[in-house]
Parts: sequence; structure tokens; C-alpha cells
Amino acid sequence: MQPHPVLAEHYPDGAGKRAFLTSLFDKGAPFYDTACRIGFFGTGLQYRQMALKRAGLRKGMKLLDVATGTGLVARAASNILGGADDITCVDPSPGMLAEARKNLSCTMLEGVADDLPVQDAGFDFLSMGYALRHVASLKQAFSEYHRALKPGGKLMILEVSKPASALGMIIAKAYFGGCVPAAARLLTGSPDAGKMMSYYWETIEQCVAPSLIIESLEKAGFLRVKRMARMGIFSEYTAEKA
Ligand SMILES: C[S@@+](CC[C@H](N)C(=O)[O-])C[C@H]1O[C@@H](n2cnc3c(N)ncnc32)[C@H](O)[C@@H]1O
Repeated sequence: MQPHPVLAEHYPDGAGKRAFLTSLFDKGAPFYDTACRIGFFGTGLQYRQMALKRAGLRKGMKLLDVATGTGLVARAASNILGGADDITCVDPSPGMLAEARKNLSCTMLEGVADDLPVQDAGFDFLSMGYALRHVASLKQAFSEYHRALKPGGKLMILEVSKPASALGMIIAKAYFGGCVPAAARLLTGSPDAGKMMSYYWETIEQCVAPSLIIESLEKAGFLRVKRMARMGIFSEYTAEKA
């Protein structure tokens, strides 16, 4: 199952999506942290750290951070783990990985969630922040997450989900689809930053329902699959490998 349908105004098919995303995030990488600070009022790192703690990340665990981007989740994790020695980051965008390397010294691998460049059962915890919409197939990505985790390993996926109510939708669309891209473009001076943030909302709007994400995780073999939604839109999916 795809996380959202093909967005024909951006790319023609699955292969086109991959190339489009790498270019989008390569160009947007230098502005990503600023755009996040604008969009989330500077709360991004603290929120990710609290979510990792809630999901059970503890000192001594080996962490795989998929879709690491500039390393916001990995940086939050390093505060909990007391360093980055046990962190491995994966992302397909060389531009994002270059930004991540400025912030964090750990293993960084170029690759996608659907085909992780890591050994079987090597990690205690797998995180993915705000990137589930970009995988080619939920089934394939979740099967890879299951493969990469040790028995008993924990999974945490952070996402922004569409609000359930019509009013919530109007507010979220105006904010994430209008204000955030415009502010990102103005304050960074980069049209690429605006484009990256506007695509962010488009994919949230088109994304499959949380219930289908939960079902897909269960089908991949995960146990205790849960979704906690803060303010109705900040989703934290957690699960465990048997
Ligand atoms: C919005 S950023 C998220 C960065 C970071 N995880 C965070 O919490 O802010 C999305 C990232 O997903 C990456 N990405 C795109 N397609 C991907 C895929 N198929 N597998 C893994 N990562 C992907 C992009 O290169 C980009 O760095």
C-alpha cells in the first residue's frame, strides 16, 4: 500500500517520486531546521526527545533513525543515550546527510526505508520522524523495520495526521499549507524552503488514514501497535517486535 496516491503535479509515477523527493530534500536541506523552528515555534527537538522517552528509548540501546534528515530525531536521541556512538542514521538525500553530519557524529548511511542498508536484527529501537509519507510502500518499509529490529525491539514513528473535524482541517490547512510555507520562504529567502514545506502539507492531506497505518504495522508482525495523537494531529505510532 502506498502512503498516498501519485501526485501527478510533482512526478509521474513511483520511480519519479524517488527522484523528485531526493531533489526536493537536497535543495531544502540547508533550510530545514529553520523551517521547522518557524512551523513548530522552536519546540521540535524537545518534542522529539519526549516522544522517544515515551516510546521507551533508554541508555544502552542501539538506535536506527530512518529518514534522519538534518538529524533532529537522532540529536534528541543522543541526549537520552548520552552520546551518538550507538546511533545509525539512514536517509536517501545526500544534502540532508551533509547537514546531519554538521550536527552529529555517528554512522550515517545513504538509503531508503523500503530497502534499509543494515544487517538483520541489529537494533533495539527504530525511529522515523515525519517521513512515512515518502516511502514507496508501507508494507515494504514495515517489513524492513521488523527485519532490522532485534527480538523485543521497539518502533516509534512520528507523523502529522489530518485533523478529523472539518474545522480542524480548515485551521490546519491554513497554517501548514499556507502560513508555514510562506514564512519559510520569506524568512530563509529560499523558494526551495517554501516548496519543501508546501509539499509537507500536500502529502499530509493525501495520506492514508491512521487506522490503515496501524493495520499495516500489525500485518508486518508488530505487536502492541498504538497511536497516540497530541492535539488530534501529532501522531506517535509505537509498536514492538515479538
Ligand atoms: C521532513 S524530513 C524529516 C527529517 C527528520 N526525521 C525530522 O524528524 O525532522 C523527511 C526526510 O525523509 C527522507 N526520505 C524521503 N524518502 C525517503 C524514503 N523512502 N526512505 C527514507 N527516508 C526518506 C528525506 O530525504 C528527508 O530527509
